[in-house]
Amino acid sequence: MGTEKKYIKSLLKTNEQIVEGAKSVALKLNKKIKNDEAVIITVLNGGLPYSMELMKYLTFDMRIDFIVSSSYHLDKQTDVLKTKYEAKVPIKGKHVIIVDDIVDSGKTMNKITKIISAYDPKSITVTAMYGKPKRIKLSCDEEYIWEEDPNGFLLGFGLDYDEYYRNLPNIYLMKKIK
Ligand code: IMP
Ligand code: MG
Repeated sequence: MGTEKKYIKSLLKTNEQIVEGAKSVALKLNKKIKNDEAVIITVLNGGLPYSMELMKYLTFDMRIDFIVSSSYHLDKQTDVLKTKYEAKVPIKGKHVIIVDDIVDSGKTMNKITKIISAYDPKSITVTAMYGKPKRIKLSCDEEYIWEEDPNGFLLGFGLDYDEYYRNLPNIYLMKKIK
């Protein structure tokens, strides 16, 4: 892919750090859900790599589902938040864990948690690799690997620019363009 080197500025988090982070979030979720069961709802497309990593370390019974959401055009957030969801597994009375790559302003997750609440789950927990400190606080539990502002646009491990870079095993800071 010719654009790969072009937009990468620097390495921010290694795959090992992401894996360690996913394991520690999984420990907390395992304690919370214990012998109960949960539905893991992955936010596509960006939440997929983190969700796959996290699920390896979750020990409770689960069903999985997906929600499709997008608000970015290249590296600029647009006001049009497209979110589609039709529950394919029962949500009512179940613990739900919603998994995305990053919670930035929190608008996306705020909308998604409202959609999921309407299904009357037992609990909702949001998890992402990054949760920016200035985000909208959600009315549910939140678990992040890094609750910090990376001060730039991120690429890799689900995080994209124009749908590229999602496959990279590490997280990188993107070069400023223009
Ligand atoms: P929010 O609605 O502002 O919280 O934006 C969250 C959504 O925007 C997430 O689903 C991310 O996929 C995407 N996003 C936010 N920041 C970045 C970034 O730095 N790189 C890639 N995608 C991002
Ligand atoms: Mg996304």
